[in-house]
Amino acid sequence: MAEVKNIKSTNSTETPEEEKLFISLRASEWNEFHGQEKVKQSLHVALTAAKKRKEPIEHILLYGPPGLGKTTLAHLIAKEIGVNIRITSGPAIERSGDLASILTNLEPGDILFIDEIHRLNKVVEETLYPAMEDFALDIVIGKGPSARTLRLDLPKFTLVGATTRIGLMSAPLRDRFGIIQRLNFYGPKELEKIIENGAKKLKIQIQSPSLISLSKRARGTPRIALKLLKRARDFAEVKNKKDVDEQVLRDAFGLLEIDHMGLDDSDRRLLKALIEKHEGGPVGIETLAATLSEDIGTLEEVIEPYLMQIGFLKRTPRGREATEKAYQHLNIPFDSAQGKPQKKKDLQEKLI
Ligand SMILES: Nc1ncnc2c1ncn2[C@@H]1O[C@H](COP(=O)(O)OP(=O)(O)O)[C@@H](O)[C@H]1O
Ligand SMILES: [Mg+2]
Repeated sequence: MAEVKNIKSTNSTETPEEEKLFISLRASEWNEFHGQEKVKQSLHVALTAAKKRKEPIEHILLYGPPGLGKTTLAHLIAKEIGVNIRITSGPAIERSGDLASILTNLEPGDILFIDEIHRLNKVVEETLYPAMEDFALDIVIGKGPSARTLRLDLPKFTLVGATTRIGLMSAPLRDRFGIIQRLNFYGPKELEKIIENGAKKLKIQIQSPSLISLSKRARGTPRIALKLLKRARDFAEVKNKKDVDEQVLRDAFGLLEIDHMGLDDSDRRLLKALIEKHEGGPVGIETLAATLSEDIGTLEEVIEPYLMQIGFLKRTPRGREATEKAYQHLNIPFDSAQGKPQKKKDLQEKLI
């Protein structure tokens, strides 16, 4: 049966053209899916056990920052057990009726993939509980005192949920997943393999030194690695070069304003605002978002995770704080006694 899709885009910052590129570059076999060994191992155990018992796999929740392979894994799981995957997302399911029609159209063993599952509305979420637990739908017929509930049996399916914000999911929903796996940022070696594979598919030549510098700037994220690779290819084409060499990369990174740590303008703006406008923090996320005219969700899901991973940013109970490493990276003098930027006056005194 053909795949049914009603998802607009997995990430609102991607253009449809870029989204197509990621689909064409998607790891379509397990041996193309590098890294995340712990996740793969636990999925492998669950898949093997389910196959032996000839039962659907338990519901699986995948979480972690965007671009780390959640959607790709859902596809690989479906392929491995040879079932259809139906793809939708939290915000796309507006009413219980939408969910009911999706669920009743599944075949036994099918996978239902709900992306951004933290964005399901409460009513839909409650319809999902009995579906996940008992493979049943409770439908209310009529209104007021004459209302009755009708229980409808569903085919046994597996729900694969993905979220960038597990903290926003309600406990009852989270608890209904048998397998919960966090995806982590990738190391440079894994990213190199992913880029190499992508380059083959895109028919781009890239040698080892460029491979290494590209992987270092990918913020631990395959999606970013592949996006940079594609940008670099455009630069090579403009220069009539066959190879994505170091010069091409330097030009590309320069124009895209990506520094040697892979930070772009939004990352640096956040750190600068934190240091220069809020004395390095701690400052609440709402205030920081207002200073930057950014949406809190984007800061929390897209920008902050990597800055925390590389130790430039700390989340404390009192708010966000920039670390000394961040000051060093931005070349801003740090007053270690105060944990703040050095005052201009102090600096001048030192110079005299
Ligand atoms: N471990 C991996 N190995 C190879 N390619 C990967 C891996 N993880 C992600 N990718 C690639 O990166 C792109 C984005 O991955 P995707 O699954 O859409 O991420 P997410 O759903 O977590 O945002 C896809 O083209 C995908 O094939
Ligand atoms: Mg996705």
